[in-house]
Amino acid sequence: MASRRPISVGLMGLGVVGGGVARALADKASAIEAFVGAPVRLTAALVAHPRRRRSDVPEGVRITGDPGHILDDPQVDIVVEVIGGEEPAFGHIQRALHNGKHVVTANKEVMAKHGPEVLAHAAEHGVSVGFEGSVGGGIPIIGPLLRELAANEISAVNAIINGTTNYMLTRMASDGIEYADALAEAQRLGYTEADPASDVDGVDAAYKLAILSSLAFHTTVRDTDVYREGIGSLAPADFAYAAELGYAVKLVAIAKRVGDEIQVRVHPAFLPAAHPLAKVDGVYNAVELEGDLVDWAMLQGPGAGARPTASAVVGDIMSIAQAVAAGAPPKPPPALDRGLRVQPMADLETKYYLRLRAVDRPGVMAQITRVLGDLHVSLASVIQKEVVDAAGTAEIVITTHTARESAVQDAVRELAALDVVIEVSNLVRVEDGRS
Ligand SMILES: NC(=O)c1ccc[n+]([C@@H]2O[C@H](COP(=O)([O-])OP(=O)(O)OC[C@H]3O[C@@H](n4cnc5c(N)ncnc54)[C@H](OP(=O)(O)O)[C@@H]3O)[C@@H](O)[C@H]2O)c1
Repeated sequence: MASRRPISVGLMGLGVVGGGVARALADKASAIEAFVGAPVRLTAALVAHPRRRRSDVPEGVRITGDPGHILDDPQVDIVVEVIGGEEPAFGHIQRALHNGKHVVTANKEVMAKHGPEVLAHAAEHGVSVGFEGSVGGGIPIIGPLLRELAANEISAVNAIINGTTNYMLTRMASDGIEYADALAEAQRLGYTEADPASDVDGVDAAYKLAILSSLAFHTTVRDTDVYREGIGSLAPADFAYAAELGYAVKLVAIAKRVGDEIQVRVHPAFLPAAHPLAKVDGVYNAVELEGDLVDWAMLQGPGAGARPTASAVVGDIMSIAQAVAAGAPPKPPPALDRGLRVQPMADLETKYYLRLRAVDRPGVMAQITRVLGDLHVSLASVIQKEVVDAAGTAEIVITTHTARESAVQDAVRELAALDVVIEVSNLVRVEDGRS
């Protein structure tokens, strides 16, 4: 039965995202009411520091430090969790669901670690969970995976889903700056967390890829299932060689179906300059999907920020509020029952770029190529750069044809052990989709 009773929203967190959500709910109240069929009112906001002066809290919103004022208030229909981190956020979400409240969250950590439990708990209590804001900020990607692309067998998700690292890599590529300088600049501009490890080590991207791949492949994928490498080993030389070879360097998040297995991996990669993701620069995010019906689609936009993330969170609030106002039952949770196995990283087959420093004397190249040949790693190109220092060392850049990860890792170990090799400076996967 439809009702015009106001839908009450309790906000947990009033920081960057929470502030954006509170403002959007106030600024767009009449458009939201027209869409929902009832007014949507923000009634209370939970914060860590309730005594702190806040300039732009909309009128009539109770600021509280007590989660019970939202979670146990029978008037609250929808709890919006934008605190972040695993706890107390996860506990609050579960308690809200237990108390029969719908939940909207932008929390990738909770959804990557506990998504299946959250969704099952919601179904058990006959309520909905919206989590569009947890991946890609303002880019609509959860909705398309759950609905608009549901008719597809998804074969791959290729994404750039961490704006901080994409900004750093863009600066390193365009201006030849060192990793440490790019990081310092990203910190100065406020693009990183207080502890930047979550961004630069690929943790944040792994959370988001776990969420996307669970939905794309109808299989529970946890953050711990995702292979992860950060961007810390990339040096200006890698960007220069990548450009010379026709590639861009990106931190990619890839989920791919391979028979009855899926690959889920986050690592730096060389992408051909013509690849759609190669052109996604700065803090922008993009998700490219391959499906049997749609063939190919890419969504691109701002991956973070108060207004873009509020766009996703408020969209979820509106869709749930509309169902509440119409007296409609919650939608069933996404099926995660295919049980596809995560492919061990050692079984990956792709191409590779290898940069090493070796002694510059006759026969060195033969030793290096013999190691690779013995392990069936076939070479696509070998470039020996001239002597780079007074010690008479040379930089050697190798690209391979498609090879097995385990063989390439063995080769790296054997190369590093050669007397003539001073160091294996970097190994980067090349994702050009050709063999
Ligand atoms: N920032 C983005 O662009 C972005 C984009 C997409 C998704 N997200 C996700 O959105 C969530 C929130 O991020 P944010 O950037 O808005 O964080 P934030 O600016 O740090 O805000 C966190 C808010 O939560 C409150 N809070 C912290 N710990 C609390 C606790 N123990 N109990 C009650 N309240 C607590 C804080 O209170 P005080 O105000 O009193 O300190 C603050 O209002 C995270 O899950 C994040 O991953 C963020």
